Amino acid sequence: MAGRPTDSQLLRILTAALEEADQAVVLFAPSTRRIRWANRAFSAWTGVPPDQVPGQDVRFCLGDAGARLDRAVQKLRSRPSGRDHLDLVLEIPLRPRRDIEVSLILVRLSEKRRLVAAYLTDVTDRAGRQAALAAETRFLRSVLAPALQPIIVTDARGRITLFNRGARELLGFSEDEVVGRKYIQEFYEGNAAHEVMNRSRAADHGGAGFLDGYEAILISRARERVPVWLTMHLLYGEDGQESGTVTFVRDMRPMAEVERRLEEVQMQLIHADKMASLGKLAAGVAHEINNPLGGILLFGGLLLEDMDFSDPRREDMDRIVQEARRCKEIVNSLLDFAHQRRRYQEPVDLNAAVDQCMALLGGKALFHNVEVERALADNLPLVVGNPSQIKQVFTNIVTNAVDAMEGEGRLVLRSGCDASGGEVWVSFTDTGPGMPPPVRARIFEPFFTTKEPGRGTGLGLSLSYNIMRMHRGDIRVGDGAEGGTTFTVVFPMPEGESCEP
Ligand SMILES: Nc1ncnc2c1ncn2[C@@H]1O[C@H](COP(=O)(O)OP(=O)(O)OP(=O)(O)O)[C@@H](O)[C@H]1O
Ligand SMILES: [Mg+2]
Repeated sequence: MAGRPTDSQLLRILTAALEEADQAVVLFAPSTRRIRWANRAFSAWTGVPPDQVPGQDVRFCLGDAGARLDRAVQKLRSRPSGRDHLDLVLEIPLRPRRDIEVSLILVRLSEKRRLVAAYLTDVTDRAGRQAALAAETRFLRSVLAPALQPIIVTDARGRITLFNRGARELLGFSEDEVVGRKYIQEFYEGNAAHEVMNRSRAADHGGAGFLDGYEAILISRARERVPVWLTMHLLYGEDGQESGTVTFVRDMRPMAEVERRLEEVQMQLIHADKMASLGKLAAGVAHEINNPLGGILLFGGLLLEDMDFSDPRREDMDRIVQEARRCKEIVNSLLDFAHQRRRYQEPVDLNAAVDQCMALLGGKALFHNVEVERALADNLPLVVGNPSQIKQVFTNIVTNAVDAMEGEGRLVLRSGCDASGGEVWVSFTDTGPGMPPPVRARIFEPFFTTKEPGRGTGLGLSLSYNIMRMHRGDIRVGDGAEGGTTFTVVFPMPEGESCEP
């Protein structure tokens, strides 16, 4: 049997193998620190010819770092067997200074004989690079972390390494909840993360490694869908492999709000334009009709006066005069609408105006089965306006509500004050059938009515709308309780007034 190689045989085999290694290797006695053997790389590194190395104290080339090596060897010797390996980095006072990583292994040759094998690796450059990288990373973090623009940095697998202030504010997570714990994929709705990675790797979205703009939905901590616009950069390590991502996020919600408002203003402009042309047309027509109508009323009235009470034509004549009077009323409202005169304005108590309207209307037959709930706010600030015009607006709205409920239901009157919006308002909620969207879109148009001929002219709301515009206010339409409608008449808060009683 060839048997186990002896210790010295083993040593020869190992030293032969290590002789040619690039790394400097040296074997020395742990007690005396005398070198027993070193490879070629060690001689080259220390500048001592190979035949002069054995017998030297291993500390000869270490300068001040020799003491640290001593302590390390001491530590290694006192450890229980099985923990025979220790790494340390020594600063060697060569010129220029080098950082040498020393791996020490205590080799137990027998119960008494031990050797220390030391592998020496020059890590000066590696350490320098790492320090530079760490400094760069620290710099970037200090710049990105407090930024208001949301920025998310991840490692190659998508795990979050930086979740800056902007990102925290946008998505509502704290740094502790996210960094090192969550993956960026978890924030995307659906499979968007996959799409973002694919696009950023492809060349046709701003160049490989860069995604120039992508619309996505992120999910916040409160499970809200946040529409965002993303720009993403892939990060690459020195080996050319992907090492992470940096994503810049823009919250698109304010943009959506601006677009919505723009659309609203556009609609208002179209409406105002339509009203202006209709106003001119109405003024022209009313003016032309007013004179002949005056003639009809005058001569009709004269004829009626001359007729005997027993005359069978009297009833017809009476009807002609009545209808002509109705026409005159319509023409007058048309002229009102067309002229849009700014009337004398004074402080007006809106609650009192509502009460006066209700007192006038309440007696009408159609109101008998309508329950009126009065929920007007106390201490409502006075507004500035023309009292009779304001009452005209309220009357139109209340009449419409009662018409819609066909005389049966509940009308709730509310008023209030919105300090933040600087508004004072009165609202009228009915339990009628409500309005389908196509009707709601047209109610402020002059002559738009869904009522049968003779029952409505379609001028009530368009007049009211104009009156409110002259008061720098507004009429808003919303759903009421139980499927009905709510009309809210809004006035600007007069200067010097406030919601406080
Ligand atoms: N409270 C309401 N519930 C349901 N529909 C309503 C309500 N208020 C108004 N409308 C709708 O709006 C239309 C226009 O109202 P507007 O007051 O301008 O004209 P009108 O009531 O039809 O006629 P006029 O007021 O000139 O006699 C109505 O015909 C009706 O279809
Ligand atoms: Mg009406």
